[in-house]
Amino acid sequence: MTSNHEISVLFVCLGNICRSPLAEGVLLHRLAEAGLSDRVYVDSAGTGSWHVGQRPDARSIAVAAKHGVELPGSARRVRLEDFFEFQFVLAMDGSNLEDLKGLESGSEADAVIRLLLEFDPEAAGELDVPDPYYGGPDGFDKVYKMVDRACEALVEHLEQELGA
Ligand code: 4NP
Repeated sequence: MTSNHEISVLFVCLGNICRSPLAEGVLLHRLAEAGLSDRVYVDSAGTGSWHVGQRPDARSIAVAAKHGVELPGSARRVRLEDFFEFQFVLAMDGSNLEDLKGLESGSEADAVIRLLLEFDPEAAGELDVPDPYYGGPDGFDKVYKMVDRACEALVEHLEQELGA
């Protein structure tokens, strides 16, 4: 995060190798298209530590590449400081959300902790991005579509916040 950035968004899933890196890459891509790269800082993290230091899953990298999206970074675990440093901490599923609320509980941090799909008006009740780790490649296509649509709506929300 630099002093240029007015808003910061952290995406969180379980391993930080499948879903949250996709959301990070897609949001960065959409922010670049909207000319907002300098105003919004984006990162991702996992609630678990198994994959710390690893690049995103090859299947996430592949589905992103199909859409011209690059996935930066390597896995890290979410930490208490994140709730102070990021305005939006967005979980991929209800289990991630519960874990985040447990970690933040009592800290007096100001972060908005929500599900990513809460920003998608078309998500219509099904607000979990399913974990694709143990499934086939079509699971990654499905995750990509869900994350992309939600990030489109999230950019609109951020544009309103920024008065852009
Ligand atoms: P992610 O997917 O939470 O979308 O990164 C997973 C990656 C790894 C594992 C579970 C989910 N795992 O059990 O190692």
